[in-house]
Amino acid sequence: MTTIIPGADSQALAAELAAELDAALTVPTYDRFADGETLAAIPAFDDNEAIIVASTATNDAHIELLQLQDAAREAGAATVTTVIPYLGYARQDKAFKQGQPISVRATARAISTGTDRVLLVEPHEPAVAEFFTVPTDAVDAADRLAGALVDLDDPLFVAPDEGAIELATTTRDAYGEGAVDYFEKERDYETGEVELTPSDAPVEGRDVVVVDDIIATGGTMSGAVEVLVDRGADRVFAVCVHPVLAEAALTRLSAAGVERVVGTDTLERAVSEVSVASAIAANLTE
Ligand code: R5P
Repeated sequence: MTTIIPGADSQALAAELAAELDAALTVPTYDRFADGETLAAIPAFDDNEAIIVASTATNDAHIELLQLQDAAREAGAATVTTVIPYLGYARQDKAFKQGQPISVRATARAISTGTDRVLLVEPHEPAVAEFFTVPTDAVDAADRLAGALVDLDDPLFVAPDEGAIELATTTRDAYGEGAVDYFEKERDYETGEVELTPSDAPVEGRDVVVVDDIIATGGTMSGAVEVLVDRGADRVFAVCVHPVLAEAALTRLSAAGVERVVGTDTLERAVSEVSVASAIAANLTE
């Protein structure tokens, strides 16, 4: 038998995964001391195999994941699998200036010490798996996004930059019809501002679905939505795997004229309409 151990920010997804795998679901405690330190703990369990499901969107979540891994070993788990639905720091995968760390490499090394295997859901770059020192696989989940889209009129699936073309294509394929196009994007790393060069695909009167891996500040997505609305698209849907939705991202999207924002439960937000549990389960059981 397998025990699923949820991180504090991945409780709904962990429960879905336990149901998919017919596994036990343990109930951790997530405490914090007066000095700010966290303490995530689990009750004793008899199973040999533990699967920790924990997104690492915050620094606290990173530490809690390390604590849950250690607690699972203490509890006697012979194998520990770590499922990271949303891997924080994944966009810090290069030293952009002299003196900077490769932050995701540092966190990947730490996570690797407490586990036998890692699963990452749609990591920002698949190459990030190479920073882990245990077997690490990526789970494709973009096809699940199509489940939230119905009755689109002459749909066009747009990637807001070249890196998201595969996600847009996968979503289109899962939806079953429509064209795929992409914008070119330049980001100013000093200011964080993005400049989008739209394609010349006709959008007037069409439903357009913009697909990206992450909506963080919403700068990229709202820029794309605004251009598409200005060019006469009927409805524009903003669809992503990881709805980080930092700061005023949702408001930026509303102000840009978005019809609806859709994300998955790799991060538990109001827009997390789609679950990636079955995609993770398929990978764990194949
Ligand atoms: C970039 O390559 C990513 O795919 C996303 O487009 C980006 O990280 C989204 O960030 P933001 O919402 O802050 O523009």
